[in-house]
Amino acid sequence: MNIYTGSNMSHPRKILVTSALPYANGSLHLGHVLEYIQTDIWTRFQKARGHDCLYMCADDAHGTAIMLKAEQLGISAEAHIANMQAEHQRDFADFLIGVDNYHSTHSEENRELSALIYKRLRANGHIAVRNITQAFDPEKELFLADRYIKGTCPKCKTEDQYGDNCEACGATYSPTELINPKSVISGATPVEKASEHFFFTLPEFTDFLKEWTRSGTLQTEVANKLSEWLDEGLQEWDISRDAPYFGFEIPGEPGKYFYVWLDAPIGYMASLKNYCDQKGLDWQEYWKKDSSAEVYHFIGKDIVNFHALFWPAMLTSADFRTPTKVCVHGFLTVNGKKMSKSRGTFINARSYLEHLNPEYLRYYFAAKLTAGVDDLDLNLEDFIQRVNSDLVGKVVNIASRTAKFVSKSGGVLADSIHDEALWQQFVDAAPQITELYEQREFAKAMREIMALADTANAWIAEKAPWSLAKQEGTEAEVLGICSQGVNMFRALMTWLAPVLPNTAAKATEFLGADLAWGEKLEPLLGHSINKFKPLMQRVEQTQVDAMMESAKEALAAAMATPGAASETKSGPLADDPIAEEVQFDDFAKVDLRVALIAKAEHVEGAGKLLKLTLDLGGETRQVFSGIKSAYKPEDLQGKLTVMVANLAPRKMRFGISEGMVLAAGPGGKDLWILEPHEGAQPGMRVL
Ligand code: MSP
Ligand code: ZN
Repeated sequence: MNIYTGSNMSHPRKILVTSALPYANGSLHLGHVLEYIQTDIWTRFQKARGHDCLYMCADDAHGTAIMLKAEQLGISAEAHIANMQAEHQRDFADFLIGVDNYHSTHSEENRELSALIYKRLRANGHIAVRNITQAFDPEKELFLADRYIKGTCPKCKTEDQYGDNCEACGATYSPTELINPKSVISGATPVEKASEHFFFTLPEFTDFLKEWTRSGTLQTEVANKLSEWLDEGLQEWDISRDAPYFGFEIPGEPGKYFYVWLDAPIGYMASLKNYCDQKGLDWQEYWKKDSSAEVYHFIGKDIVNFHALFWPAMLTSADFRTPTKVCVHGFLTVNGKKMSKSRGTFINARSYLEHLNPEYLRYYFAAKLTAGVDDLDLNLEDFIQRVNSDLVGKVVNIASRTAKFVSKSGGVLADSIHDEALWQQFVDAAPQITELYEQREFAKAMREIMALADTANAWIAEKAPWSLAKQEGTEAEVLGICSQGVNMFRALMTWLAPVLPNTAAKATEFLGADLAWGEKLEPLLGHSINKFKPLMQRVEQTQVDAMMESAKEALAAAMATPGAASETKSGPLADDPIAEEVQFDDFAKVDLRVALIAKAEHVEGAGKLLKLTLDLGGETRQVFSGIKSAYKPEDLQGKLTVMVANLAPRKMRFGISEGMVLAAGPGGKDLWILEPHEGAQPGMRVL
């Protein structure tokens, strides 16, 4: 259903939007979902405004990792990527990501376009060919990327380190320097082997890129980062891989394949071509050199070089237009920490969907997304609080407290506005909200919308139609107030529709009218509405807890898959590498003491904290510790532990915390506090 009308745009823009194509070797997690939600909100906003906007995505299906994964699973690469694509598309649909087309880089369109672009690069003299020497697995007969070689660190002699850096001491080196190197795939000792590779002559595009990256195509902070790389000097880019490889063979070069990153961005074009061919449209309208269409790529900060250096250079050489903008976002963290498998902060898309409404997350992300590249934190307590207070408490509340009075008086809205000045505030806010959406400043847009919701609620509370309704002869006034309530609700829902497409659709049913993001906000007057039905439930802590449990189970299951361990770097050290070296004097500043847990108590209203009274053998300290998920108070009382005794006191919601007890583990049930061996006395210093 199209829920928008009234967008009398005299010049609809032609806009192509893409998200980075997820790798077909794993499930989507909430970090991916952040990007797809950001892209989807922007796309839905453009469509709501009446622009001709297409959102294209696809699976990125090539590369060694995918080939090896299929082998481990005992299926063909084609079958493996088909399974993954089906899973990804289901996740997209269930998060309400309204892509217009979801394709694959392993497609005929992409094969054709990759060949076309390569031939143009080659004809223009931008492909160099030369021999290079690389590590080779003589058993598997496969060239080995650094991450497929392990051995003993040449510096600190720690065993089982990857080919490019040591996780124990942080040294970086080349795989040839490893002591006793082994192929991760077969266990064989790698040998050096030469082979012919194809290179894209990127340095020739330095001047073009210096100009292009500064022409409004990138956020300033991204352009600054690229300047550093451009000033350091670009390298030629190796775009070929030797067989066996899952990808496209390079035309005219048997046994040589395009490196996955060569054909991946071409997948954006391929998905569009696939769509246009079905619709009888011309994909070149968007990509030809003088195209008047706009092209926006939404990506994460880890893949900027591919999108803002290699890709525009390739496009230029191959005589296509370059993107209008590359919109870069930061990374998702969970409860302030990097999403990590061992910390238990890794949440699969499906684990979320099994327990929670996708619109909660869409709103939460919208409420925190800016046009910048800062990381964005999913704080689960804040998530519950914000969704309940903003969506249920503010927006939906406006309709639920006013609709019933309109229904009682016949279900037809008043035929004039009750409070013109108040309505004018809504009318005046529209251009600003529109501009914030356009600039991807979703957090600011949500703040404006919620401020108006507050204004509406305060006005309704002051008018108190529920009290008025009890008096004689007030029908017209009650109807006037409540009709305005319904109209304010409609305005808010119009602006929230890109974020909450399902709720918006339900709202249109209730309103019996479309949500009109037109040039000017128009109220519904003398219009029949339908019976109001609850639009959204509150989020409960139990649902969030259940999601976190599912996430852990999904992870455990993934780890148990054959070969998973050899492919995924994980474990406490891999996910949380040892911190930078400190001098003894710095360490000695931390005063660690043995402490007796004299008392352990629940804290009223605190979901995660226990209040501990710690006896240091003379002095006592009160400490709030986030260990409630793992310990009952009675299990702790009378035990010894170790505390940081000289930590500056911290004011918390429930009181002052005067130190910290030491504990290990990812969190939840998996938390273990430290306990000294028998004989240690409270107050003893730990060194
Ligand atoms: N296949 C490439 C993209 C090719 S585009 C021509 C790739 N795939 S990916 O699956 O690793 O990542 C897809 C997108 O998700 C990227 O933009 C990446 O930055 C983003 N994210 C992956 N983890 C993320 C977070 N934790 N947080 C936010 N975005 C993250 O890269
Ligand atoms: Zn080392």
